[in-house]
This record gives sequence, C-alpha cells and structure tokens, in this order.
Amino acid sequence: MTERDGVGFLHWCLPILGLRWAGYRRVHRQVCKRLARRLAALRLADLAAYRAYIEGHNEEWAEVEAACLIPISRFFRDRAVFDLLADRVLPKIARRKQAAGGAIRCWSLGCASGEEPYSLNILWKLGPGRRFPGMALDILASDAAPHLLARARRGCYGAGSLKEVPASWRDEAFERQGPLYCVKAPFRSGIAFVHADASRTLPEGPFDLLMCRNVVFTYFDAARQADMLARLRAVMAPGGYLVVGRKEELPVGREEFEALDGGPVYRLPCRGGAAGPDD
Ligand SMILES: C[S@@+](CC[C@H](N)C(=O)[O-])C[C@H]1O[C@@H](n2cnc3c(N)ncnc32)[C@H](O)[C@@H]1O
Repeated sequence: MTERDGVGFLHWCLPILGLRWAGYRRVHRQVCKRLARRLAALRLADLAAYRAYIEGHNEEWAEVEAACLIPISRFFRDRAVFDLLADRVLPKIARRKQAAGGAIRCWSLGCASGEEPYSLNILWKLGPGRRFPGMALDILASDAAPHLLARARRGCYGAGSLKEVPASWRDEAFERQGPLYCVKAPFRSGIAFVHADASRTLPEGPFDLLMCRNVVFTYFDAARQADMLARLRAVMAPGGYLVVGRKEELPVGREEFEALDGGPVYRLPCRGGAAGPDD
C-alpha cells in the first residue's frame, strides 16, 4: 500500500465515519498499517479492492472503525493539567462534596490502556486526597477498544509510559515485575473499566470531573463534536469540570463553559451561579 493510497482511502472513509482528517494527519500511518494487515487477512490486492469489499459487506465498517482508534497515551500526560487538578480543581470539588456528601465521581472517556484513570487515582491518593480523609474518588474509565481495556486491567507498563510520573510517586504507586511497572493494589481500587462506545452509550451521571482528552475533540468531525459536547454536558454535575486535550478546543455549544486560565480545563457553572473566587 502506498502512502498516497492510504491517505486517499482515509479521505474517503473518515467523513463516512464522522471522523476528520485533521485529527489523523499526524497519526495516519498507524491506521494504514492496520488496514494493510486487514487487506492481508482478507487476501485483497489493494485498497481499491478493499473499498469494493466494504461496499458489499456493511459489517466491515466495524473493522474500519476499529482500525481508526488511536491508542496513544501515557501517565500524567501534560503534567501541567494534573497540577491544576491537584492544586485547584480536586480540592474545590472535595470541599463541595464534604458539604453535600458522597464520593467524587469522575469519568475518563477514551481511557486507552488505563494510563489516565490510574494517573488521576494516584494524583488523588498521594496528593489532595490526603487532606480529605474518607472522601472517595470513584472513577469510571471507558473505551471502545476491548484489547486496550484488557491491558488497562492488567495495569503493567513499560518505563516509557511513566516518563512524566514524579520519581517519588513512581516508587510509591508502582511495583517492578521484570521490565514492567505494575500499578499497586491501592491505586487500582476505585476504578471501574467499562467497554463502551461513547458515541452510542453514555454512562449515568452526574460526574464532577469528566476527562475527555485526545478523543472527541481531535478525531470527531465538527457535527459529532458539537453533538457530543451537548451530551457530555448533560451527564456533568452543576459546578463540574470538563478536561480536554492540551491542543483541543471546545466546539459550538461551549458558551456555558468557563475556561480556567484559558483552558484546557473548563467549569460548568452551577445554574445561575458565577465561578467561585478560586476559579
Ligand atoms: C489517543 S487515546 C487518548 C487516551 C487518553 N484520553 C489520553 O489523553 O492520554 C484515544 C482513546 O479513545 C478511544 N476512543 C475513540 N473513540 C471512542 C469512542 N467513540 N468511545 C470510547 N472510546 C473511544 C480510543 O480507543 C483510544 O483508546
């Protein structure tokens, strides 16, 4: 398969799937590699033959969609965002919860192999959670790729995934198993991994913190982004926070959200209430 054929194929199939080329420009080669493997499995000569095959086999779209899932992640990806969560966002949510009662509810949408929800759990338990004894952080972590969730449940990673983890936290939260670093039991508890395509099913809210980074607002096309933002908003708690990727922008419909320091952390104000002084 040539580069040109791969790009041409993506320009054809991405819009049909509600995805956008701009999101795939940098990572399209890994999708093309998966498509090449699929062609080989089907014994098809080239992408033109594959396109004809898809047009005759509607169920093949699920394979194309799966090939377009980008699994890139790492622990504490974009550290500054986690610092903001530790310093301002989580303490603020915790104080509100102390008054109202109940656990802090978080959702990591598109959790890949678990790096993001484990990071959040480690952050809470070794950071602000120590100032709020007894306050639980419940994390729902969902992804559309079952093989990534299997990896997430195993919870063991190569050193490269941990590059942004502060050294002392790495020693506290991980144990070595040969070349791998495995998340210790206390940092696994409180996380539920669930297989779900967020475009089709949304979990029951309300969530105090919604991590939706490097998924919807990178890969989905404009119409799907706007639709998803409205649906995400509907499962957020009043006063809840939405975190997107460092280079992502909220689409049409963002008017209700207030950016902290210009983004990528957004607060959904309580109805009729302005942001508090520590926002
Ligand atoms: C690039 S990774 C981002 C992982 C993590 N959020 C981060 O920022 O490091 C995108 C993840 O979103 C998942 N994903 C893509 N579309 C999805 C959907 N419609 N529903 C649930 N997960 C999805 C992919 O399988 C992949 O694991």
